[in-house]
Amino acid sequence: MNAFLTRSIFALAILLISPSLFAQSANPTLTVDSERGSHSLSLDELRDSLETREIEVINPDLGRPIRYLTFSLADVLKLMGASNAEDLVFHCLDGYQSSTAVANVAKLDLRLAYGEDGIPGQWSLIPTGKTMTNPAPFIVVSANTSDSKVFSWPFQMNRIEAVSFASKFPLVLPTGVSANSAVARGFTIFREQCLKCHSVNLQGGEVGPELNIPKNITEYRSTNFLRQWLHDPNQFRARARMPPTELTPEEIDEVIAYLRHMARHKQGG
Ligand code: HEC
Repeated sequence: MNAFLTRSIFALAILLISPSLFAQSANPTLTVDSERGSHSLSLDELRDSLETREIEVINPDLGRPIRYLTFSLADVLKLMGASNAEDLVFHCLDGYQSSTAVANVAKLDLRLAYGEDGIPGQWSLIPTGKTMTNPAPFIVVSANTSDSKVFSWPFQMNRIEAVSFASKFPLVLPTGVSANSAVARGFTIFREQCLKCHSVNLQGGEVGPELNIPKNITEYRSTNFLRQWLHDPNQFRARARMPPTELTPEEIDEVIAYLRHMARHKQGG
């Protein structure tokens, strides 16, 4: 075999055996939308203005420690004129939208990751159901993983919307219930853990199915099924895109109470 052919085959083999590390667009853009308008900055511009810190944390989707290149998310929001919002909605390329209270930025020490092992734009692929996904351009990571149940890391994130939850998702709010009712507690859980993938009255994430219109999920699935499904979808469908929850049986019933409540408040569509 001639040297050229040998080298080509060698290069091809390298390409084929290294799918877990992936280099992406060297200078991706982050957009932040707030009441003060829409601002976009490239990674190079962010690096010029913000301090980078390398942190090693266990990626909850991979279950192993990764060294990330990060900025403080609080610094990013300040730089981009969005530090006085109540809530943040992270928009991801796959349709995932997660919302979190701005208070969690400090509480969970949220940071904007832009690469691994000292290389901007280098990422380990993340398992998503039956496929592997490149998390580029950004992941929002939590450097305080003691409360990991509250916040799942948005990856493929490229836009942050700084809003107040009630103005962004008015049709998702339960109406006429007291703050300490099961419905209100279920809503708090739903908002933190489910809305990023599911919509109610067509407001929310797009990864999972709409849960209220035209039929509310509790109108065609039994409570028993929902309890089991919410505990662990993998009992029904191998490698379900929906992750198992760490909710207690009481919390699961509160989420179901919220969903049942929304059956009487169908709007939109
Ligand atoms: C990462 C995205 C994601 C999250 C987070 C998520 N789901 Fe899902 N969910 C899905 C997808 C995708 C499906 C479609 C079925 C599948 O996974 O095979 C689904 C299906 C469902 C179904 C319908 C099951 C059926 O067969 O009728 C219900 C009910 C549901 N999810 C409720 C919830 C609730 C409540 C939460 C929060 C505790 C939640 N989901 C969190 C993605 C998600």
